[in-house]
Amino acid sequence: MTSRSENELLTRIGPGTPMGTLMRQFWVPACLSSELAADGDPVRLMLLGEKLIAFRDSNGRVGILDHRCPHRCASLFFGRNEEGGLRCVYHGWKYDTAGNCLDMPNLPQDQDFRDKVKARAYRVAERGGLIYVYMGEREVAPPLPALEALVCPPEETQVSCRQRECNWVQALEGDIDPSHFSFLHTGSVDVADIDPSHTERFSIITRAPRYQVQQTDWGLMYASHRPADPGNLYYRYAHFALPFWTMFPNGPLSDNILAQAWVPMDDTHTMTFTALWKRKTPPLEFTKDGTRIPGVDRMCETLPNTADWFGRWRLTANQSNDYLIDREAQRSDSYTGIWGVAPQDAAVTESMGEISDRTRETLAPSDRMIAMTRRRLVDAARALRDHGTVPEFVDRPEMCAAARAGDCVAPEGKLWLEAYEETLAQALRPGMLRAAE
Ligand code: FES
Ligand SMILES: [Fe+2]
Repeated sequence: MTSRSENELLTRIGPGTPMGTLMRQFWVPACLSSELAADGDPVRLMLLGEKLIAFRDSNGRVGILDHRCPHRCASLFFGRNEEGGLRCVYHGWKYDTAGNCLDMPNLPQDQDFRDKVKARAYRVAERGGLIYVYMGEREVAPPLPALEALVCPPEETQVSCRQRECNWVQALEGDIDPSHFSFLHTGSVDVADIDPSHTERFSIITRAPRYQVQQTDWGLMYASHRPADPGNLYYRYAHFALPFWTMFPNGPLSDNILAQAWVPMDDTHTMTFTALWKRKTPPLEFTKDGTRIPGVDRMCETLPNTADWFGRWRLTANQSNDYLIDREAQRSDSYTGIWGVAPQDAAVTESMGEISDRTRETLAPSDRMIAMTRRRLVDAARALRDHGTVPEFVDRPEMCAAARAGDCVAPEGKLWLEAYEETLAQALRPGMLRAAE
């Protein structure tokens, strides 16, 4: 069981908290490249409980600064993004992407002390359509994350964001919760309607699988298994990677290349970043006659972004409208009456409250991956706080470069990790091809 104090440690990520300090060891996805245009509008970013301003200067470089101008703390959100920097509109001080003060036009030349002033600026990197920020203390930042989906050719990879209006841990736990898919998302699907060659049908025939979980160098992995055709088992593999990454089964192991980051904006809002290799086999979305399975829609409508701290990538179906639940559909052909996988996940995780009170839970064997992931996070945060131990994965992100989530069918009697390794040995590796070029 998770105690009250462990729940606090697990969920709080602001500056100075143990979990916030653990996250600040790693590069953190901040926003999409497409959200920032050269000399375009500065963007408010809430990240790990800090209010930041992101902008792209005239040369295309990205800066992520504390939103308060170092002069008298006016917000740089109102700044003029022009001629190689962001100029505060209060007294005209101007900063480059590294936070250097370039201009102090309200002072006579002999009083100018721009070389002594620096805006708080975090290090930034841009790769594959994502902008990353390093909010840690090191002089030399560690390498960027190396999950497979993050290094696939950008033109073959789709990156997207969605906001979740609750704490990051309960949001992330949906991705490592192997038994909910057959209920929340496909609970009303009749196996007779499914293409008899689609391997995901086994998850509908048997909705109560068994599990294996084990620690890995980067976090944890699990496999669920249940009967497939006679003599075989149907496996679904997934990973958690420190500090907030998941890879979840959404098609065959052979080509299901995706990664998801559950980035805390603050303690009660989370931004999900999804990187998806586009040439993967489509997941189960259609019945055998080609009609869409009611409610199982991966497309996800979002509201127009606003400039508010929490105004980006909000779902159209959200808690203010009960996720547009249709009770008639719930009675007839949809398990939830909520349309779309993302709003379904949002409804259940946000309904737990802003920060779920884990002392009220009743965990079951199906929650083993979740329990072990919490343990791994709490242990890592404590090891850093009490002994200064940084996870090895920070400096060796390539340790999980070959890890992948997905499903496969393997003969009964084969070990779960053997089935995983053997299937992956045959798999396409578009990211590695590129690395070798
Ligand atoms: S507060 Fe920004 S220039 Fe004065
Ligand atoms: Fe889900």
